[in-house]
Amino acid sequence: MAQGWRTTVRHYNFSCLRPEFDWLWSWHCRWRTLLSMSEQTPPSQHSSVQHADVYTHGHQESVLRSHAARTAGNSAGHLVPHLQPGQHILDVGSGPGTITADFARLVAPGRVLGLDRSPDVVAAARRLAGKQHLNNLSFAVGDIYRLDFPDGSFDVVHAHQVLQHLSDPVAALKELRRVAKPGGIVALREADFHGMSWYPAQPELDEWMDLYQLVARHNHAEPDAGRRLLHWARAAGFTNVTPSSSNWLYATPEQCRWLSADWADRVEKSSLAEQALTYGLADEAQLAHIAEGWRAWGAAQDGWFVMPNAEIIALA
Ligand SMILES: C[S@@+](CC[C@H](N)C(=O)[O-])C[C@H]1O[C@@H](n2cnc3c(N)ncnc32)[C@H](O)[C@@H]1O
Repeated sequence: MAQGWRTTVRHYNFSCLRPEFDWLWSWHCRWRTLLSMSEQTPPSQHSSVQHADVYTHGHQESVLRSHAARTAGNSAGHLVPHLQPGQHILDVGSGPGTITADFARLVAPGRVLGLDRSPDVVAAARRLAGKQHLNNLSFAVGDIYRLDFPDGSFDVVHAHQVLQHLSDPVAALKELRRVAKPGGIVALREADFHGMSWYPAQPELDEWMDLYQLVARHNHAEPDAGRRLLHWARAAGFTNVTPSSSNWLYATPEQCRWLSADWADRVEKSSLAEQALTYGLADEAQLAHIAEGWRAWGAAQDGWFVMPNAEIIALA
């Protein structure tokens, strides 16, 4: 993916005060995590399960830089052939909304609504969309577990890289199915972290994978969501399901440098870093070591990084 739109998100980094103020940094991290937990999902009306999910990535600049590089072309190839002008689309967990904005172009004059649990990222998506003058596109704060719409409201319901962050993806899928029109489309795409592979070998990237898995699982999330997507869809009651898969590939020197710089930043400056510290799964020296490994990998010759994604087109 080419490097995309950037947004500025304040990130207070006290690490320059170390080692004298280690305790301050540690309390800063705990405070940031408590703040992000205050955005926890409230209990669902449609399920007896309590959903207190914690989002592993956060919405810091390093994360939005990556997510805002997504387009319908590089991230929704399974859905695009099904889109037609006039369709009404709900994009749940829309993040910075770049895929959502592409949908608005493709189905105009149909209306497209992006929904996300985080007010901050909804505001960022609105700023981005405002520059594109798409009068059929809007964004709102909402929770995938309890969508504030009547049954059968949308022609297409889309969620991209969202289910992997949930403690109860099947409950969320039932809710996506509920708000799709009978016979309408629910389109999903999820990465599979343990399915990722790269060259050349870099031990710190193995450490990164182990740490990511530990943090996500501490959050009761499922980083290997891709391989489970079909099972989740069937468990949610979908019977007409078309599975497929596609990769994100980073194989030019520019793509590898971009990926490595982004993950090096995310390892040290995102909710992933804050949660790793707060949960006691890594210390700052380990995070710096992994970030350095990412940079070294990005400078290597003939780099190759594949991220496999599972996709589903399910009929409601
Ligand atoms: C990995 S991002 C994907 C963003 C966008 N779909 C994309 O691919 O660029 C996951 C998004 O899901 C949102 N999210 C997490 N839990 C959610 C929930 N319970 N309801 C709605 N959105 C949620 C997060 O705030 C985040 O913006």
